Amino acid sequence: MKRGLLITFEGGEGAGKSTVIAAARTALDRRAVAHLDTREPGGTPFAEGVRALVLDPAHENLCAEAELLAVFAARAQHVWAVIAPALAIGKWVISDRYTDASYAYQGGGRGQPIERIAELERWAAFGLKPDRTFLLDVAVEEGLRRTRARGGTADRMEREDGRFFERVREAYLARAEAEPERIVRLDAGRAPEVVAADVVAEMDRLVERWRAGEA
Ligand SMILES: Nc1ncnc2c1ncn2[C@@H]1O[C@H](COP(=O)(O)OP(=O)(O)OP(=O)(O)O)[C@@H](O)[C@H]1O
Ligand SMILES: [Mg+2]
Repeated sequence: MKRGLLITFEGGEGAGKSTVIAAARTALDRRAVAHLDTREPGGTPFAEGVRALVLDPAHENLCAEAELLAVFAARAQHVWAVIAPALAIGKWVISDRYTDASYAYQGGGRGQPIERIAELERWAAFGLKPDRTFLLDVAVEEGLRRTRARGGTADRMEREDGRFFERVREAYLARAEAEPERIVRLDAGRAPEVVAADVVAEMDRLVERWRAGEA
């Protein structure tokens, strides 16, 4: 049984992750690749519970350490119970956010040291790295404008200020620069169908390489 691939989608608020993930799923369906679609924080009942806690605006005094450990507690359960078993039976896993988000939000945004996050990645995420990551990069103002237009009440993260999101964006871009083979950076300021076309083209390439035993 050939192991499936883990594909993650990253980016700030309103970058268009959910929008392009729909296109990525369709691309896999068209090529009859079995896949499991999930998100972080979340993806298991326990981890969804942690998500609700972490995003609840009532916890406005949550310290950075508690937030970092909470998202990794959720991730440990998610990887162990859902992601790793799916990959092992040959399914692809598409995740709306994963470990890079911790480097961006808890690292860049909250100032938690990178080495601390890397250590958590080794043990609490079982060292599981994505095979491909799409980073949807858009100007902070534009992303926030999109989420505001979508309406609804802002969660605990969405209530942060522009400087927080600038740090998140910078941390994401630094990750992409450090790992250009894994992380595909996309200009998400373009029209949704243009961004989605880039994602689909890369997904198609990946499926071909995977079927040929090269990925
Ligand atoms: N490339 C784009 N150009 C303009 N608007 C877009 C684009 N992509 C998505 N949108 C719109 O912006 C809003 C946010 O998009 P989407 O929900 O896909 O972003 P997201 O990254 O998943 O956001 P969140 O971080 O809140 O989950 C939606 O209303 C969507 O229709
Ligand atoms: Mg989304």
